[in-house]
Amino acid sequence: MPLKILVGTQWGDEGKGRIVDLLSAQSDYVARFNGGDNAGHTVTVASKTFKLHLIPSGIIHSHTLGILGNGLVINPQSLLAEMDMLRNAGIEVNPQRLKISFAAHMITAGHVALDKAKETTLGNSKIGTTGRGIGPAYTDKANRSGLRLLDLLSPTHLPEKLQDHFRQVNQTLQRLYAAPQLPIPENVDRLLDFASQLAPYISDTGAFLEQALHSQKRVLAEGAQGVLLDIDHGSYPFVTSSNVAATGVFTGLGIGIQPVSAVIGATKAFQSRVGAGPFPTEVEGEMAELLRGTGANPWDEFGTTTGRPRRVGWLDGVLLRYASRINGLTELVLTKLDILSGLPAIQICTAYKDENGSQFEQAPMGVSDLQKFSPIYSTLPAWNEKLEEIHDWHRLPQAARDYVRFVEKIVNLPVAMVSVGPERSQIISVPRE
Ligand code: GDP
Ligand code: IMO
Ligand code: MG
Repeated sequence: MPLKILVGTQWGDEGKGRIVDLLSAQSDYVARFNGGDNAGHTVTVASKTFKLHLIPSGIIHSHTLGILGNGLVINPQSLLAEMDMLRNAGIEVNPQRLKISFAAHMITAGHVALDKAKETTLGNSKIGTTGRGIGPAYTDKANRSGLRLLDLLSPTHLPEKLQDHFRQVNQTLQRLYAAPQLPIPENVDRLLDFASQLAPYISDTGAFLEQALHSQKRVLAEGAQGVLLDIDHGSYPFVTSSNVAATGVFTGLGIGIQPVSAVIGATKAFQSRVGAGPFPTEVEGEMAELLRGTGANPWDEFGTTTGRPRRVGWLDGVLLRYASRINGLTELVLTKLDILSGLPAIQICTAYKDENGSQFEQAPMGVSDLQKFSPIYSTLPAWNEKLEEIHDWHRLPQAARDYVRFVEKIVNLPVAMVSVGPERSQIISVPRE
């Protein structure tokens, strides 16, 4: 069973990038199956930090091959900029190392403008998107009017398709949002230039992956966002526009249903959210500052893609049980355990109660309508020791080990590893109880 899946179990930014980097040491191919450059995945190796938005985090290892599946929406400009960033850092990027599905959809400057115009119009009801054009690009896909990467391979039809696209975008910008129009010739010329640069990378990655799995190549699917942002299963409408959950891997990579050896859920030791929407265990004030950090450290809770301060709160066991069910998780990796050092006490939500006092261990009707619940907490002792230098489970303070075991118990899943710092080596294997 050579296919492994790594997904986020919360609202994104769980530390997926660094776990993918770790798992990539044992993978041949690393494949993104959803989202676009709304993702921001951080990998730190020694003193070098990489922030990846599109290219799979596994690319940092020299032996891996990266795939961008058909489930993605790809902004060619962001992709080319990311390729340059990696090359400048000494990472090889070429069509033998990176393959892009012909059936992935394209994000243009038009989609970006529509995303921003819609958010502006929504005012206080805005979703708080990353402003990367994700929603409008997936809208065009579902509306059967999208531009696919395949279109970049057809120089005779491409200029006309792009002109039509920008004409439609301009109509919408003007009529729906009274927003300024985009200059069409410059935008078309720019995309024609990007097309010639990206053409060698575009192929039928689904067929390629199917063949690879058949010959026992080890494939790691790298999720973007977190399941609570899934278009079907997340806190709708405060979600992204793609299937984030592990079940999206097959559609998003264009491979048939097949056995999966592990579905690993990256989980932050607390909870964070960037953008609007419900957050039952959210904390504010001094405690929020302790969990978020002030921005002085690179790992503090400020968006990798947008720089926005993230909302923070205690780990929510009800939502984690939900994430386990929706994804079919087999294990967790708990990140940022080091951040809990020095807190006065640690709270963890084990159930919700509603205004009548009824208790719920599972969210009764999905995760959108959570305002009517308040969290029931267990309070666990904290620890003062710093964890960053610890490499062995048995050397962790007892209270830290108890916290990890408590998480296992409330979700009924093993925690396979905990991380105690962003660097590749700051990770500890957790023995099974
Ligand atoms: P992703 O989107 O899930 O890949 O996560 P991000 O990269 O957006 O955000 C996670 C942040 O936490 C990054 O700055 C990481 O470098 C950092 N990080 C990951 N694991 C740890 C950890 O165990 N401890 C600390 N202090 N930082 C971590
Ligand atoms: P990674 O992969 C955190 C959030 C946005 C917003 C909502 C919709 O780094 O975990 P979109 O631009 O997708 O239309 O925004 O989804 N969002 C993320 N939050 N991490 C991400 O990715 C996110 N990608 C989208 O903040 O609330
Ligand atoms: Mg991120």
